Amino acid sequence: MGIESLARPEILAMKPYSSARKEAPGEGILLNANESPWTLIDEPGALNRYPDPQPAVLLSRLAGLYSVPEENLLVTRGSDEGIDLLTRVFCRAGRDAILQCPPTFGMYKIAAQTQGAEIISVDRIAGDGFRLDRQAVLDTLRDNRQAKLVFLTSPNNPTGDVIDPDFLRELLQLTREQSIVVLDEAYAEFSDQPTAISLIDEFEHLVVLRTLSKAWASAGLRCGVVIAQPVLINLLRRVIAPYPLPSPVVELALRMLEKPVLKKQKKSLKRLQSNKQFLLESLRGLSFIREILPGEANFVLIRVNNPDEVLTFCADHGVIIRGFPADPMLADYLRISVGSESDLSALLVAFEEWERSK
Ligand SMILES: Cc1ncc(COP(=O)(O)O)c(C=O)c1O
Repeated sequence: MGIESLARPEILAMKPYSSARKEAPGEGILLNANESPWTLIDEPGALNRYPDPQPAVLLSRLAGLYSVPEENLLVTRGSDEGIDLLTRVFCRAGRDAILQCPPTFGMYKIAAQTQGAEIISVDRIAGDGFRLDRQAVLDTLRDNRQAKLVFLTSPNNPTGDVIDPDFLRELLQLTREQSIVVLDEAYAEFSDQPTAISLIDEFEHLVVLRTLSKAWASAGLRCGVVIAQPVLINLLRRVIAPYPLPSPVVELALRMLEKPVLKKQKKSLKRLQSNKQFLLESLRGLSFIREILPGEANFVLIRVNNPDEVLTFCADHGVIIRGFPADPMLADYLRISVGSESDLSALLVAFEEWERSK
């Protein structure tokens, strides 16, 4: 039994839409897609034409970046789209579930709710720095075969902790032929933890999500990558929009992945790392901060008294940080993204003023 048997039967049964560009990939006199024969503005990238659904050059660059064959990749509009596609392909409304470990990234829940899937939450341990409750995750999956997707995040947003590789392997062994394990590595480049990408050869039910939004400084591009065995990639291709990647996005993504930019990226990661150290040292000197979760990503989580007031005070000083008023687990916490040197100085001015006013 392969992972196809985990997909919704309707998805397996349907005949996927075949776009004009898929049938005739852009050679010759193109009179097959109801496009304009010319553009109205002088822009590179043939805006009058539909883009390649999965541009070969971009796939090849990303395959090089993540050290996998191209057939293991699906390029999406950010990881958000990857999460949505997975949920649509594997979860039947009212019957299947996702498993998540809150506090975590909010879009897993939204994707499940949109699809009408149940949400099984195995909460992280609040009194222990929101450590993942590994045993509870394994026990829940042993007792419950309804969870088609298991969402894990490493480093996790907003706690910043990483998944232990032995635990991941144990989980993958337990869930074979039962669930798809989605490891969201949106912040992987900020951490020393090795990626789990190489495990996809061994486990066809593992999916790794990567994105250009964070360490590649390209949140505005909306470019994410699903990495998995071709059988799973082909299932997602059945439901992805015919032309998910706008031509200008593809052009910019290719520029982003050129060698000189890679050098810049490495420098930027180092600078963020040193800014994070500076931020952490400064936060440790402030007594209104009751707990600091440094994590391994480009943000830190802090616990404070009166988080709403701190948030408003910072906003009045022109500095926007993230609060979680709607999440009872995170009600006392604030998340600070590691910014530039001047961003952090402005934040610390506000924090010091807040400290003095108390
Ligand atoms: C853990 C995690 N995964 C995925 C995303 C979304 O990434 P993208 O911008 O690629 O859609 C985010 C965004 O904050 C995130 O924190």
